[in-house]
Amino acid sequence: MSAAPSFSVISGAQVRRVLQGREAEVVQLVESAYRLHAEGHSVNPPSYFLRFPERPSSRIIALPASLGGTVPVDGLKWIASFPGNVADGLPRASGVLILNDPGTGYPYACLEASVISAARTAAMAVSAADWLTRRRARPRRLGIVGTGLIARYVHTFLEATGWRFDEIALHDTASDSVVGFRDYLDRSAATGRVRAHETAADVIATSDLVLFATVASEPHLHDLRCFAHGPVVLHLSLRDLAPEILLGSTNIVDDIEHCLKANTSPHLAEQLTGGRDFLAGTLYDVMVGRVQLPAARPVVFSPFGLGVLDLAVGQLVHAEVARAGELEVVPGFFDELSRHGTEREPASCP
Ligand SMILES: NC(=O)c1ccc[n+]([C@@H]2O[C@H](COP(=O)([O-])OP(=O)(O)OC[C@H]3O[C@@H](n4cnc5c(N)ncnc54)[C@H](O)[C@@H]3O)[C@@H](O)[C@H]2O)c1
Repeated sequence: MSAAPSFSVISGAQVRRVLQGREAEVVQLVESAYRLHAEGHSVNPPSYFLRFPERPSSRIIALPASLGGTVPVDGLKWIASFPGNVADGLPRASGVLILNDPGTGYPYACLEASVISAARTAAMAVSAADWLTRRRARPRRLGIVGTGLIARYVHTFLEATGWRFDEIALHDTASDSVVGFRDYLDRSAATGRVRAHETAADVIATSDLVLFATVASEPHLHDLRCFAHGPVVLHLSLRDLAPEILLGSTNIVDDIEHCLKANTSPHLAEQLTGGRDFLAGTLYDVMVGRVQLPAARPVVFSPFGLGVLDLAVGQLVHAEVARAGELEVVPGFFDELSRHGTEREPASCP
């Protein structure tokens, strides 16, 4: 008789404890997951968006995925985005990540997922910043448009992986977000002179590496001239830039099919031009040297965010919590383990 499956719950506090100080490792993990995905060792169907007619700014997204490699894992991230939470003092995003055993299909862990999601997003941004600036001067002027939780994680990951800035330019439509972010920068003893700007255009004009982490639902930047100095743009929030800006830039995505959906800026550019010629390729194409990036042009990285990245980070967290002997196994979670109702021993824990 096979061992009875067990099921654990891993809290956000446990996730944070594992990931803190492991930023460089998480960047490597996320790059490996990208490579596995691009080389065909994954299944990553389109995300499913649950939307609510009476609450149009909110959504809950399901990201099912399967990641191959030496230790394969299946699973699902189920993540809510409720931008209205912020006014009540709660983060926008909340979620869970379920890990499934590829041998039996049994789910074996449920992890708090907002921290995993923020960490994998920050790791993806840092990886892109690295690969997209390898043939140009390393940016020393960072600009951030949208100074919320994701921006904080990206900045933390940049600093933790050796990036140093002379200047950090900030803009947010909510002045308290800028105040909170400045406070975080002070507490983290970040490098660089910090300056808040009235407009996103001012931030872009004074930065070589620009991060967009807003909750804008449609483009609010239309003037390509702001980008004339050719910055590298990490367009994590996906809907800030008018298609005209993408058409004047070198465009890199994480996965083409995923990214050209849900009215992202690349999706709008596809609708405007009727094709995909404006895309230079994926980050993997850059990693393997299939795409060259002209130094004088703006480079825009628009990543949809793949479920396989969450699985990779979730698997690391599960393994480390188990290694530390701190897995909180739910006793008897799977109880109906005999097809014909014969008795068996109570579920044993691994
Ligand atoms: N691509 C990915 O894989 C990925 C993963 C995670 C999050 N995200 C995206 O990152 C974004 C930020 O998430 P968060 O959790 O930090 O949200 P958040 O609510 O904590 O912060 C967003 C900030 O953007 C500001 N903002 C809204 N519209 C703006 C505008 N037009 N100009 C400037 N600032 C504006 C808000 O005031 C807020 O301070 C979201 O859009 C989210 O969907 C993307």
